[in-house]
Amino acid sequence: MLQVKALSLAELRERSSEKWREYPADVLPLFVAETDFPLAPAITAALQRAVELGDTGYVASRTPLAASFAAFASRRYGWEPDPARMRSTADVSMGIVELLRRVTQPGSAWSSRRPCTRRSTTSWRKPAPRSSVCRSATPERGGSSTWTASARHSRAGPRRSCSATRTTRPARCTIESLSALAELAEEFGVAVVSDEIHAPLAQPGTGFTPFLAVSDAAARVGYAVVSASKAFNLAGLKCALMVTADDETSAVVRGLPVEVEWRTGQFGLLAAVAAFSEESDPWLDGLLRTLDENRVLLEDLLAAHLPAARYRLPDAGYLAWIDLAALEWGENPARRILRDAKVALHFGPAFGAEGAGFVRLNFGTSPEILTEAIERIAALVGR
Ligand SMILES: Cc1ncc(COP(=O)(O)O)c(C=O)c1O
Repeated sequence: MLQVKALSLAELRERSSEKWREYPADVLPLFVAETDFPLAPAITAALQRAVELGDTGYVASRTPLAASFAAFASRRYGWEPDPARMRSTADVSMGIVELLRRVTQPGSAWSSRRPCTRRSTTSWRKPAPRSSVCRSATPERGGSSTWTASARHSRAGPRRSCSATRTTRPARCTIESLSALAELAEEFGVAVVSDEIHAPLAQPGTGFTPFLAVSDAAARVGYAVVSASKAFNLAGLKCALMVTADDETSAVVRGLPVEVEWRTGQFGLLAAVAAFSEESDPWLDGLLRTLDENRVLLEDLLAAHLPAARYRLPDAGYLAWIDLAALEWGENPARRILRDAKVALHFGPAFGAEGAGFVRLNFGTSPEILTEAIERIAALVGR
């Protein structure tokens, strides 16, 4: 059984990416969604060979990327997307933004599932009124969002509107709720952009439901944006895919300017093909086991050291939403934690008003780093 173990802190400090350069060396960084694991061996081999060959030119117009994602989706999710209905771009945020540009009109209403990364939408033009559809989707603070609210809002707004969904859903999206969303979207002329970046990281007990596969209506209204970047830690290499399952949506993606595709990184593409290959499956399974252990370790650490924290085991990925409101450290507890505990977490309010009192913690790291981070934070209690 393949074990995927994080690098040591000393090795990680040699990295030069955002996670390891944003803060001084006395800070433990558990904020941005990068992981602390070595690359999957097939990716290392593909990139090493490319470096040896100087294979650093433009991305080719015909590549194995779409077919390798289709094979991955078939093996891992039982979904058979058509490679002819996909197009690559630099990253998921860019895919979402370009699709939003295409499927909305000036003044269109839009809504997003919360919590939502701002990166996905800030470079889009100034949005029109947002729907409050996802107002209560943060875990444990009660309630799930209602699709009906979204659709009603859309009807009130001018022309088409757009709704982005996420893979790591605090309120679970079942097949039934996703197909209900698709039907409402179709009825009201709404396009759905499904951000499936965390999909490869769904834990086996939960599984992943690709939006485009839930129903014929979903295939007609939906766009999925996928990438190997979160599971395989490839964000800096720049490669994602926009996936469709219908003639009309496919024509929309085909109609995007060619520059959208030219932004795909050559190394990103080579790495993604290696990530999606069967050879990387044992590594991904090993990673999922490590993340499963880490999510439980985090639960144990919080129970032991920070019992006032509220946390629900995430079904996928390595990003934990932790409600620290009971500690009364203000709207944005991550600020105090950074200043006094020297642990960098993502700010809850950065993901929307519902994030007040929350922090986002990245547990894609070693048990040692995770333990030290929680112990440092717990030492602030009562200070
Ligand atoms: C749900 C989600 N979507 C998109 C992104 C950004 O992805 P990309 O770097 O491909 O734009 C992130 C980053 O963490 C994310 O968590």
